Amino acid sequence: VTYWTEYAIYPAQMKILAIDTSCDESCAAIVDTQTWRLLSDVVHSHVEDMRPYGGVVPEIASRGHLVGLPLAVHEALRQASLPLSAVDWFTVTNRPGLIGALLVGVTYAKGLAFSTGRPYSVMNHIEGHLYSPGLKGFEGETEMPPFPWIALVVSGGHTELYFVKDFLDHRWLGGTLDDAAGEAFDKVGKLLGLSYPAGPQIDRWVREKATAADRKRFEFPRAVGALDQFSYSGLKTAVSIQIQKLKTTTEADRLALAASAQEAILDALVTQARRSRDHHGAKSIIVTGGVACNSRLRERMPEAYFPSPRHCTDNAAMIALLSALYEKKGRLVPADWTLTAVPHLD
Ligand code: KG4
Ligand code: ZN
Repeated sequence: VTYWTEYAIYPAQMKILAIDTSCDESCAAIVDTQTWRLLSDVVHSHVEDMRPYGGVVPEIASRGHLVGLPLAVHEALRQASLPLSAVDWFTVTNRPGLIGALLVGVTYAKGLAFSTGRPYSVMNHIEGHLYSPGLKGFEGETEMPPFPWIALVVSGGHTELYFVKDFLDHRWLGGTLDDAAGEAFDKVGKLLGLSYPAGPQIDRWVREKATAADRKRFEFPRAVGALDQFSYSGLKTAVSIQIQKLKTTTEADRLALAASAQEAILDALVTQARRSRDHHGAKSIIVTGGVACNSRLRERMPEAYFPSPRHCTDNAAMIALLSALYEKKGRLVPADWTLTAVPHLD
């Protein structure tokens, strides 16, 4: 067993301010690498601005960050009771994500670094999700899930499996061939008349109202491909065909459709994560990303390790932790002024 306290023993005091604007949340957080404490953790969501459109509108997200990010950074400093001059290092997500949204974060981080004379560095958002179970270390939890991990990153944009040998030592195994699991939740929800994002609503609705019979009433395709692969594009079609077959749907029908679709989405995640663990000889399964908030998934995978729900969805605390881990390993490198944002995974 490795303990988080090992990471707390570090001679140089360093306060890192992290920024994440990869999607529609303006996030800022500050970590102290000496005490291994999270000093602040702010998420300013723009999801309400997206509801009328049924999904994230990239330009609205970018404009939202122009307003929300300075507010989030200001609030992060206030929570930590620190002046801007006390920040030793700035760090920002520059990939993957919505390009316009990322550019606001990167430009703002450059501005902060330029005006304070401090360095800044760039981080990978998916890597942030990957190591987010470590955020429990900031909350006083000392024991970590034993390595190697199979890490499942399931969000609105990603469904990826990684083999994680140690902190900052991972390799991509595979992922979805088409839609992401969160996207499948949101698209099924849209067909059932739910607003965006539908994932949390389906979760709550099924938990509060559905029976075991509802979860089995409709047989939807399981998105299980080859080892380490998923495919969700057929599910939306199957649900929409089923709705057409029913002609008119009652509230009870829609609940059973939601419950059965959720079960199909989760079945694929549970099956593939366990297959990967067995095949690659991993000791732990880690599930992170927005879909990892799902209560039925948590119930179905008692062996898996989940970060707290607020750290499963987008946040800057995970970027702060990632930067602190890089710093701990002597791999936190300052970026130069020419660095920019890129939309894809590297
Ligand atoms: O990680 P995240 O906040 O943003 C991305 O990077 O995509 O994930 C958002 C996604 C959305 O598709 C949302 O519907 C889904 O995660 N989600 C859930 C739940 N909470 C969020 N899906 C199922 N059950 C939930 N409780
Ligand atoms: Zn994310």
